[in-house]
Parts: sequence; C-alpha cells; structure tokens
Amino acid sequence: LGNEASSEERTLAMIKPDGVSGNYTDEIKRIIVEASFNIVKEMLTQLDKDTASAFYDEHSSRSFFPDLVTYMTSGPVLVMVLEKRNAVSDWRGLIGPTDAQRAKISHPHSIRALCGKNSQKNCVHGSDSTSSAEREIKFFFKDVVSGLVSSPLSLLQL
Ligand code: PPS
Repeated sequence: LGNEASSEERTLAMIKPDGVSGNYTDEIKRIIVEASFNIVKEMLTQLDKDTASAFYDEHSSRSFFPDLVTYMTSGPVLVMVLEKRNAVSDWRGLIGPTDAQRAKISHPHSIRALCGKNSQKNCVHGSDSTSSAEREIKFFFKDVVSGLVSSPLSLLQL
C-alpha cells in the first residue's frame, strides 16, 4: 500500500535575527506555505552564547565563528520544522546560496536575495543534509525543558 506520509521529509529552518527584526517573518512563512511545506513546529527563541556555539559546533574552527555566535545571539530567531517531500534540498534551494550578495545575482528569487545582506546576515538557515536535519531538529525540539534553549522566550513554543 502506498503511504504518502512515508515519503515526507523534515528539515530545520530558522529565520535569523536580521530576518525577524527586519519583519520578514510573515513573508517568509507565506513563501514556505506557497512552496507546499507544512510548518510542523515553530518556536520563537533568543539563543544564548552556549546554545548558538553548540548549534554551529561544526564551524567552531572557522575564523568567522565568534562573529557568527555574536550575530546569532543578537536578537530573537524563529525556528521551524518544515515537512514535505525532499524538504532538505527543496528548502536549501528556496533560500539560495550562503552569500546573500551572490544570491541577489545568481538566485534573485531566493529568500536570501529577498532579505539577506551578506554571508553573515543572510536571513535564514537550512539544514544541509538529512543527517544534519535530524540533529538540528532534535537540538531544538527535544530538549527544550532540559535547558538547551535557556531564555524564557523559549517557552513560547507553539
Ligand atoms: S555552508 O553551507 O556550510 O557551506 O556555508 P558556509 O559558508 O560554510 O557557512 C556556514 C555558516 O556560517 C555562516 N557564515 C558566516 N557567519 C559570519 N561571518 C561570515 N563571514 C560567515 N560566512 C559564513 C553562514 O551564514 C552559515 O550559516 P547557516 O546558518 O549554516 O546558513
């Protein structure tokens, strides 16, 4: 029996501080729904330094890491679990390349072209593989109570 739900995939999406403070949340969510993603979970939260560092741990040796952590803790972020077939690669396609300057040229209809500024302020995040999607979804949505997301805003989980 064909079970359509079994081919669904989940990915972690995040609207970064520049996206939230720039009031792009509604427009991004409209794009998400229009592209046939289901928003399965969402949480508005303020990342603290430890949480942002742990989330981006794989980049901890990069020169931009301290800047990245400072930026990601500079204001609220909206974290979402998105679901559809090929959610991981479809969401990466929709957001466009990391460098929003480049995105404006090569992917003018992408979300980063719409609301990003550069490689740091690039408005949105998307898991880069199914395995990182699994890790990132667990990171935000399994351990809320245990204090991984330590700001009171984390209690705004919907
Ligand atoms: S990728 O997709 O992993 O190859 O992208 P990458 O270029 O390696 O970037 C990984 C994340 O680091 C952020 N980034 C930066 N932050 C601050 N300053 C600079 N210069 C910079 N360059 C890259 C980038 O936004 C990626 O964040 P996420 O949330 O994973 O997209």
